[in-house]
Amino acid sequence: MIEINEVGPRDGLQIEPAFVATDDKVALVDALSGCGFARIEVTSFTSARAIPALADAEAVMQRIRRRPGVVYTCLVPNLRGMERALDSGADELNLVMSVSETHNQANLRMTREQSTSQLLAMLERAGQAGVPGNVSLSTTFGCPFEGDIALSEVERLARLFASAGAAGITLCDTTGMAYPTQVADLAASLAALLPASTPLTLHLHNTRGMALANALAAWQVGMRRFDGAVGGLGGCPYAPGASGNASTEELVHMFDCMGVDTGVSLAPLLEVVATLPRLVAREVPSQLLAAGPRLRTHPAPGR
Ligand code: COA
Ligand code: ZN
Repeated sequence: MIEINEVGPRDGLQIEPAFVATDDKVALVDALSGCGFARIEVTSFTSARAIPALADAEAVMQRIRRRPGVVYTCLVPNLRGMERALDSGADELNLVMSVSETHNQANLRMTREQSTSQLLAMLERAGQAGVPGNVSLSTTFGCPFEGDIALSEVERLARLFASAGAAGITLCDTTGMAYPTQVADLAASLAALLPASTPLTLHLHNTRGMALANALAAWQVGMRRFDGAVGGLGGCPYAPGASGNASTEELVHMFDCMGVDTGVSLAPLLEVVATLPRLVAREVPSQLLAAGPRLRTHPAPGR
């Protein structure tokens, strides 16, 4: 059994140039709620100037229909965002900072030191509120400004936040720089370093076509939680060249083929994916939407 966290409504929509209407966002989350996800990242409570696409975070959280058993999580970059998310009744919080100093300053306008102390304060506040706080580490596998990232820095931050009570750590390949052997090595060494109570999640982007290969490599060394975005939407507006996430339906399809239970039903998920080109007013980078599942057969050619 593996768990797939659907991040499309947040990571997927944050980079879309055309504002997606609040009603459409709500309808997307509600449709995803029917697909069997354990967790859906609904929105982010950031500054409206930084991420205008998600300026309606409160309204979205207020209007979605919450299905029992689904965890509705929200990304929060600072304490202010966290208070907004708590007021909106988020079940879980996704705290974020970058392992790379340059990307952290571009994305969050803070030094890593400032972000670290902000995140430690946020984990304390989350503990008081009784809401789990997951920590996402951006640019873990490489930074578009700095190149390779020192493994020791990833380990230091993961250990620090795990010991401060993080409910989980997400390793983010923000601009698709990861490759399979790197992912396997890092996933295995971090899993050995962290207590079993701090599970790891892998967050992949398909910028260079390696997302599924990376997911497979991580699964082979024991990774059991993956982020994905429907239709392969997504990307960080503060990372040059960023493009879509690992597509959720392609992850689900691959694991289905391998007999690995994801909890997600592919047929309703593909129906949601089929609505996306209208929602974002462009084609979405989903090969599975184009081709259909591997056993979808076609009528034989007539004579
Ligand atoms: N929610 C709403 N508004 C916020 C906010 C939050 N969480 N945090 C700050 N603001 C507001 C401030 O009130 C201020 O508003 P004003 O100009 O009307 O007075 C403005 O944003 C700037 O505040 P400041 O503290 O100077 O923040 P900043 O400009 O240095 O930006 C962040 C810092 C973290 C808020 C901003 O960079 C951000 O939201 N980044 C998120 C990036 C992101 O989500 N990337 C993709 C996901 S990894
Ligand atoms: Zn991402």
